[in-house]
Amino acid sequence: MRTVHSLKELRTILRGYRQQGKTIGLVPTMGNLHEGHISLVRKAAEMADVVVTSIFVNPMQFGAGEDLETYPRTLAEDQDKLASAGNTLVFAPSAEEIYPEGLASQTQVVVPDVSDGHCGASRPGHFEGVATVVTMLFNMVQPDFAVFGEKDFQQLAVIRKMVRDLMIPVDVVGGPTVREDDGLAKSSRNGYLTPEERQIAPTVYQTLQATAAKITDGRTDFQALESEAEQSLGDAGLRPDYFNIVNSQTLKPATAEDREITILTAAFLGTTRLIDNLSLTR
Ligand code: PAJ
Repeated sequence: MRTVHSLKELRTILRGYRQQGKTIGLVPTMGNLHEGHISLVRKAAEMADVVVTSIFVNPMQFGAGEDLETYPRTLAEDQDKLASAGNTLVFAPSAEEIYPEGLASQTQVVVPDVSDGHCGASRPGHFEGVATVVTMLFNMVQPDFAVFGEKDFQQLAVIRKMVRDLMIPVDVVGGPTVREDDGLAKSSRNGYLTPEERQIAPTVYQTLQATAAKITDGRTDFQALESEAEQSLGDAGLRPDYFNIVNSQTLKPATAEDREITILTAAFLGTTRLIDNLSLTR
């Protein structure tokens, strides 16, 4: 498995693969890889001849006061994990390689509607940063398909809409959320939790499951369910950012007529922000 840091090298190698008629799958990441990321790489390896995993902590998607500087950077460990998962090529560019003219004058991709609300409301500019860097990665790698995790449900919806609206010739493939044994969704940010917080963290998924069970039982008073869930999160020592029951396609508040429902939540545990979601069919 090779690692390249420059766009020039990346293009040279990929040109060779393309000339051999090989299909290319892309897995965009910010590194500090865990089983969640690796499951996406394995999925891509099943589908394509060549798998490119990008590792880039994208400054454009971090807001002021967020964890851009402290975000864990663990390239050597990531390379080991990727090599055993069937990855072909690692693309690990510097910020200068991706944004040579700086962020202030960088052209941006804006994906309206699905970027509004939820994480988009709490993190202004975040999805513009994600959509921009993913578009650039698509243009740099020109993959046949790219794999993203359902863990970041709104992000996946933003990327699907972007690809549709801009006629980008890349298939977007989703992969299921990989969890710890106690239900906590695997996340690079789980490493920030103290041992005490780590004990509390599974409450997020438990609350999603409890709410899903109430909906499956026939309740459609979604606002009341959201308040009950926020109460449970608060009682456990979490500070809910949002807990929203939405239509799985539009990400707008669910109505009693909706069949496909997704529950989206973000909550702070100390200074760590955890996100998770659960989809169900009524
Ligand atoms: P990152 O948080 O590193 O996640 C990379 C990919 O792994 C995303 O598609 C994410 O949804 C997926 N992922 C994370 N945790 C997962 C889990 N527990 N189970 C399954 N998949 C999981 O998301 C980003 O990076 C960035 O926003 C990026 C798309 C790379 C753009 O910068």
